[in-house]
Amino acid sequence: MALVENKRTLGAVLSAVACAFAVSAADAQDIDFGRQIYTESCAACHGASGTGDGEFANYLTIKPSDLTLLTKKNHGTFPYLDIFHIVDGRTGVRGHGSKDMPIWGTVFTREIGETGSPYGSELRIRTKIVALVDHIESLQK
Ligand code: HEC
Repeated sequence: MALVENKRTLGAVLSAVACAFAVSAADAQDIDFGRQIYTESCAACHGASGTGDGEFANYLTIKPSDLTLLTKKNHGTFPYLDIFHIVDGRTGVRGHGSKDMPIWGTVFTREIGETGSPYGSELRIRTKIVALVDHIESLQK
């Protein structure tokens, strides 16, 4: 994934794209964007603080991962790209093996639909995933 190799470059590209394609200014600039998507799409299973204690967790056969320990488990470095791929679920070495965890790349594709831009919905999908992974990074213990 050349596009996500460098987070800063990706951020700059996405900001430019967000303006160009009129993603709402609030979305592009709001630092709470990631937390908002997390609350809407992830907290039911992973819990508001990310520890895996969401309401829906009781109904799952596999317990949702504790998302606050990712840095600890990775020897003190947040595994950004790895988490990006896991959340996206369509790509990368760790695509989803579990039916209990939705493939968010596909879910967001459905939600966003085709935008009619030269890049289709892909950049907006990745903007959401970057915001989400930024938020997960902020939850690390
Ligand atoms: C329906 C419940 C459910 C929802 C909603 C959900 N997850 Fe998960 N998630 C899981 C389960 C269950 C696992 C553990 C999968 C496994 O062990 O195979 C998991 C695993 C993960 C992992 C892997 C962590 C690790 O230790 O490798 C990440 C990252 C993750 N989820 C992020 C998210 C994000 C971001 C969202 C929201 C966009 C989300 N999840 C929404 C159930 C859910």
